[in-house]
Amino acid sequence: MEKYVAAMVLSAAGDALGFYNGKWEFLRDGGKIHQQLAQLGGLDALDVGRWRVSDDTVMHLATAEALVEAGEVPNLTRLYYLLAKHYQDCMEDMDGRAPGNASMHNALQLKPDKPNGWRIPFNSHEGGCGAAMRAMCIGLRFPHPSQLDTLIQVSIESGRMTHHHPTGYLGGLASALFTAYAVNGRPPLQWGKGLMELLPEAKKYIVQSGYFAEENLQHWSYFQTSWENYLKLRGILDGESAPVFPEPFGVKERDEFYTSVSYSGWGGSSGHDAPMIAYDALLASGDSWKELAHRAFFHGGDSDSTAAIAGCWWGVLNGFKGVSPSNYEGLEYRNRLEETARALYSLGSKEDTVTSL
Ligand SMILES: *[C@@H]1O[C@H](CO)[C@@H](O)[C@H](O)[C@H]1NC(C)=O
Ligand SMILES: *[C@@H]1O[C@H](CO)[C@@H](O)[C@H](O)[C@H]1NC(C)=O
Repeated sequence: MEKYVAAMVLSAAGDALGFYNGKWEFLRDGGKIHQQLAQLGGLDALDVGRWRVSDDTVMHLATAEALVEAGEVPNLTRLYYLLAKHYQDCMEDMDGRAPGNASMHNALQLKPDKPNGWRIPFNSHEGGCGAAMRAMCIGLRFPHPSQLDTLIQVSIESGRMTHHHPTGYLGGLASALFTAYAVNGRPPLQWGKGLMELLPEAKKYIVQSGYFAEENLQHWSYFQTSWENYLKLRGILDGESAPVFPEPFGVKERDEFYTSVSYSGWGGSSGHDAPMIAYDALLASGDSWKELAHRAFFHGGDSDSTAAIAGCWWGVLNGFKGVSPSNYEGLEYRNRLEETARALYSLGSKEDTVTSL
């Protein structure tokens, strides 16, 4: 349970740190962020008491609270209405949190009370990281290998409520899947290979669900190819070899690398590269919170999203070990995050299965 609590809380702490009230999310130079970080006394000295969480945590909580409200053995249709409702309602809480356009625009279009009102059409511009940044808790709720089908369906459908493009919602799948792997104690080294093996199942679901299947398949390859290239570059496509990092791989080199894997120059702002940068940071950080923060929270890209994802995985793996209490004690929504984490733990520790739609 402690690790579930750490997962929800440290995801939000990472988000708040990477966001720094909007200052650092949008500062495109990691070197400047690290300079300011040093002036503030370094990571351990940062007290998040006055650092707000961003749209990422508000929407992660919306996902988590919908999962909790749906209760045991959820009826998926009912769960989708609840997710749509929570996504819509949470838009009331976006002042000063820099919500993404697709999330905002589409959440407000949803009609949680109408049949199929949780669905939106395909859109070729919705590959942003809005689905990826809020899906980790789906892996906390459905962590068991027997629940993989449910994890796939729920991450895709919740993702495409605002990001109906494979680059967008497959990012949600990656965030949820890697969280489930962390809960199961699967070594991070194997996660990328696991994702590659699961993509055909995700594709099968898209075809079978029969909703804009053709458009989705046409745009499928970008996510898959980007991930294959990344895993090859690190030498971990086989899920066995140790990852290989360039030397040196400091703040500047990392910024360049994050830009190189991005869709349009802002590393971590898309569905494929937000979980990729979080994963890259995790692979290199072991159990060091500071190393994780330096790589995943403080860089020139979409730093709060990569931070929210990385912080969650790290929390499942390590709990609060070695984290300065000032990084999370005064955190906004801390009680809500802890309460939701405990409820997810009690649901996630049972191995219920759901019947399909
Ligand atoms: C699932 O939930 C939906 C929406 O609330 C409802 O219409 C449907 O009857 C439920 N299905 C079952 C099997 O309970
Ligand atoms: C905002 O998102 C919606 C839905 O994806 C899209 O139709 C609209 O063009 C976007 N607006 C801007 C300014 O990007």
